[in-house]
Amino acid sequence: MIPIAQPLIGIEEENKVIEVLNSKMLAQGEYVKQFESDFANYLGAKYATATSSGTSALHAVMDGLSISPGDKVITTPFSFIASANAILYCGAEPVFADIDPQTYNISPDNLAAAVKKHPDAKAVLMVHLYGLPADMDGICQIVKENSLYLLEDCAQAHGAAYKGKKVGTFGDAAAFSFYPTKNITSVEGGMVVTNNHQLNQRVKMFINHGQSKRYHHDLLGYNFRMTNIHAAVGIEQLKKLDEFNQQRIENAEYYLKHIKNPRVTLSYKPDDCTHVYHQFTLQSEEREGLINHLHKNEVGYAIHYPLIIPRQKLYQRKFNYQESWPVAEEVAQRCVSIPVHPGLTPKQRQYIVEVVNSYV
Ligand SMILES: Cc1ncc(COP(=O)(O)O)c(C=O)c1O
Repeated sequence: MIPIAQPLIGIEEENKVIEVLNSKMLAQGEYVKQFESDFANYLGAKYATATSSGTSALHAVMDGLSISPGDKVITTPFSFIASANAILYCGAEPVFADIDPQTYNISPDNLAAAVKKHPDAKAVLMVHLYGLPADMDGICQIVKENSLYLLEDCAQAHGAAYKGKKVGTFGDAAAFSFYPTKNITSVEGGMVVTNNHQLNQRVKMFINHGQSKRYHHDLLGYNFRMTNIHAAVGIEQLKKLDEFNQQRIENAEYYLKHIKNPRVTLSYKPDDCTHVYHQFTLQSEEREGLINHLHKNEVGYAIHYPLIIPRQKLYQRKFNYQESWPVAEEVAQRCVSIPVHPGLTPKQRQYIVEVVNSYV
């Protein structure tokens, strides 16, 4: 079976982890600080704070903006559950804006409609899904006109850029994930990125039991710290990010050129975006048949995501949403991701095309 995802860990990561193990500085240590400054530099942001996961990074960002009970945050119905859960963790209410059928991200028009419907919303959490930046000119304009906070969930979009500017640098703050399937990994791990010194200070306290100085706790925080071992892996992975992304882009371009099957709709990329293809996602009206065909031919696949967030039992129970998000609902019925990771060989890539093209 060709795996749908596969982290590429080299001798560099191995050596650095062994170095940390031998140093005895396992939890806190210099590599955490280095990973933070390397990551901030990579994005061209002022501050970065490493966390235990992308989910804890999102939670910290929400808290950093004082999102609290009674607040509404506009976000996408079509993402991994962690995006909206971060809003719940702060006791706030997620309200959902439908996605664009081609980019799978919230479009400016849909955001404008959601703002009109929820004029009391405090913030927007944009997700750059599958590695494709959202239409940030339009989004930023709406955010500005309505004095909203803008947060970016970049868990799937390390190195993605909109008109040459990297995602994670458009809003008040951004969260990244380094889960092993992501464009780079630190095993588990995440990063908060911001240009706001005060917000960054608060995030640093939040992820460390609200500690302002040793054993002085000023606010309710958590243990969401990244360890020195995880940071060691992250530092070496970050050096390889552009190369990994380039390989993902080449794999995706190969698919765009060679997959020719009237039963399958391909990914779309606006010209002004650098899409880093965390996923390469097809759409098919007969998805069941397509996934059986992929499985039978040993091509790994995944459905990102089969059930939109507001239709999850937790959200139905809590909010009993009566609205619908027709585009997200439809894409959830039709989408299927195929392997696009940098570990694919040219032979595997060619084979995957043959398998998709032979689906009738
Ligand atoms: C869009 C999105 N947001 C948040 C997360 C959460 O990241 P983590 O798994 O590191 O907690 C993920 C990870 O799958 C994700 O894809």
